[in-house]
Amino acid sequence: MSTIEPASGLGFDEPVPSALLHLLGTLSDPASERGVECAGALPPAGDPALPARAAEAKAALGDRVFILGHHYQRDEVIAFADTTGDSFRLASEAAARPAAEFIVFCGVHFMAESADILTGPTQQVVLPDLAAGCSMADMASLDQVRTCWDTLSELGLADRTVPVVYMNSAAAIKAFTGRHGGTVCTSSNAAQALRWAFAPSDQGGRAADRVLFLPDQHLGRNTAVRDLGLSLSDCVCYDPRRPQGGLTREELANARMLLWKGHCSVHGRFTPACVDEVRARIPGVSVLVHPECTHEVVSKADLVGSTEYIIRTVERAPAGSQWAIGTELNLVRRLAHRHPDQTIAYLDRTVCFCATMNRIDLPHLVMSLESLAAGHVINRVRVDATTAEEARTALDQMLALPGDSTATRRD
Ligand code: 13P
Ligand code: SF4
Repeated sequence: MSTIEPASGLGFDEPVPSALLHLLGTLSDPASERGVECAGALPPAGDPALPARAAEAKAALGDRVFILGHHYQRDEVIAFADTTGDSFRLASEAAARPAAEFIVFCGVHFMAESADILTGPTQQVVLPDLAAGCSMADMASLDQVRTCWDTLSELGLADRTVPVVYMNSAAAIKAFTGRHGGTVCTSSNAAQALRWAFAPSDQGGRAADRVLFLPDQHLGRNTAVRDLGLSLSDCVCYDPRRPQGGLTREELANARMLLWKGHCSVHGRFTPACVDEVRARIPGVSVLVHPECTHEVVSKADLVGSTEYIIRTVERAPAGSQWAIGTELNLVRRLAHRHPDQTIAYLDRTVCFCATMNRIDLPHLVMSLESLAAGHVINRVRVDATTAEEARTALDQMLALPGDSTATRRD
């Protein structure tokens, strides 16, 4: 881990791990997909006038502003969102709002980058706290991805490999994917993306021998096995920290899915034991999980799907239904609150919010809206023109994929 000298007055004798200061939002980290310096004067969190201030600033901006809220955001933020959605829906919503001068993205950095790429040149995208990144997205750097591709090229395998990159990645990696004829995907359309990559070219596909799927190994494995009918032995895990990903040429050549060794720290908390425990605690409960959970957890669940799918499933369920849900806690709590006629439990007994999603709170939203209303744009997320053009190719390919959801019922 890299270290830096502590700021004076902190009282540390030893260098402080830079990751700690990154987390606290006091450093800029060129190796991260996010920015971490958060400009602006933050109102105190305890100010009871914050909801009124947010409403007033939003009203003053009128149609000039459009606020997007990801399902994992806090309730206090969702209350001011013009629309809510999963990462796919929010990307589409951003692209469909050419009249809004400002898009305030209440989500994480890679989502705001995608919104900037998909919106027009006169539109500005604001992330209320630039330190709201994604630890999974940080698990794949452009240098690592280039090294992986160089390895595949040297082994004569790159020509028949198609990159399929999860939305949870930096714009530079989406641009790499665009340059190499791949697509972006989200948890809503990962199956369609893989089918497209493997389909013959006369059916509009890319006729891939193998897909390089990054950075979430679990979404890649779950989708390949559950939705495309591939076997676990068709999937190998590429570790970017090891030479040749820790794999032999034969393993790389024979694999249908090269899964990047990345994961979500929130969904990684759910274990098969959590499923056993909740089934014993709530007899008859249905287990509903996000495909970022491990394959072992997904295999034990009843239903699997994106955040949009999870919401839709609960909304359509009759009174008296019982659920144990494995995804971020803000969303599970909101569902429980909205559906008091159903039993809705969190799959893990331990509380776990997404720390970076939670960085966007009412003080940051108020600060952003009041600054915009006063004519100052702070915390703008901007992708340079070349990166944006190449990333857009991969994002447009995703938006052109047919169909809807990866969700399937376990028989
Ligand atoms: P969705 O694609 O379901 O919005 O999920 C995004 C995410 O970050 C999940 O951890
Ligand atoms: Fe990233 Fe996981 Fe948070 Fe989603 S829940 S933003 S994948 S860390």
